[in-house]
Amino acid sequence: MPRYVPLFWRLFIPNAIVLGVACVVLILEPANGRVPALVGGLIVLVLVDLVLMRRAFGPLERLTELMRRVDPLRPGARIPPPGPASEVSVLAAAFNDMLDRLEDERRDSARRMLDEREDERRRIADELHDQIGQHLTAIALQAARSADTADEDAARQLRTIHDGLLVGIEDVRRLARELRPEGLDALGLVPALVNMLERLSQTTGVRVVRDLQRDLPPLTTNAQIVIYRVAQESCTNAIRHGAPQTVWVTLAADGAQVSLTVADDGRGFPASGAEGSGGIRTMRERAVLLGADLTIGARPGGSGTRVDLRFDPVRA
Ligand SMILES: Nc1ncnc2c1ncn2[C@@H]1O[C@H](COP(=O)(O)OP(=O)(O)OP(=O)(O)O)[C@@H](O)[C@H]1O
Ligand SMILES: [Mg+2]
Repeated sequence: MPRYVPLFWRLFIPNAIVLGVACVVLILEPANGRVPALVGGLIVLVLVDLVLMRRAFGPLERLTELMRRVDPLRPGARIPPPGPASEVSVLAAAFNDMLDRLEDERRDSARRMLDEREDERRRIADELHDQIGQHLTAIALQAARSADTADEDAARQLRTIHDGLLVGIEDVRRLARELRPEGLDALGLVPALVNMLERLSQTTGVRVVRDLQRDLPPLTTNAQIVIYRVAQESCTNAIRHGAPQTVWVTLAADGAQVSLTVADDGRGFPASGAEGSGGIRTMRERAVLLGADLTIGARPGGSGTRVDLRFDPVRA
């Protein structure tokens, strides 16, 4: 049995009282064709009914508003208990329980998706590096050797082929490097980040200032991959869309939290927001996996954009 007056009775009883009062008034003071009295009485009845209905349905409308605002890519938000016990508070509690279950399920599927995606990337990177890269290298060597024995015209063509192949090999290597978090397994997170940021700075000419704390609390492989990928995507976004002079990357642990910040002094994040289906959405999905907060917005105290990833490594 519910420990509150059910909504049905909370609506029925006041309505019955209002109608009863109207009936009693009409018995004691019959309208006898007095139209203004009848209309006045009706208006009072409707107003009283309106106030009573508002009180009964108000919490339900507020609850619907809160439910609409729940964003699955920003987990953790829960509906506060809406006043005293009623159908609405039961509904809010059931909704919060459902959010718990959905977020657990989403974290699981995000973890599976991340594992599969990283495995796939690693496989393609290995294939590119070990198969295609080696194959192209062998052909390039063969072209160089043939050039030594060929006549002048053919030798020139063979050297052009050789040079073209070297460019192709470098492209394949770069692609393979970008596909897997290079050095993450062998070197650890911070050296892998340093490598990635240095390469990014060299290839784009943008100054990358890093402040990466080395003595971080122990991080799971997934947490390291998420930090690496979020740093990579945020820096690439900053350079691609913001045209900045400097990008600042900070990795630190304060208290129970690990935080990654990527800030740039570029043209800034679009005010209308831009979180379609690209890198930012993937970053949010990765953040869900760690139960992390991910905020993207204007850089405080200057032009440009700032991306903040914060999470508790114990719970990640
Ligand atoms: N640092 C930034 N400065 C300015 N604009 C940004 C920045 N980061 C993101 N944006 C804006 O947000 C949009 C969405 O970024 P997102 O990473 O989701 O997609 P994308 O970079 O366009 O494509 P993808 O990441 O799939 O290659 C960008 O198109 C850009 O307009
Ligand atoms: Mg992007």
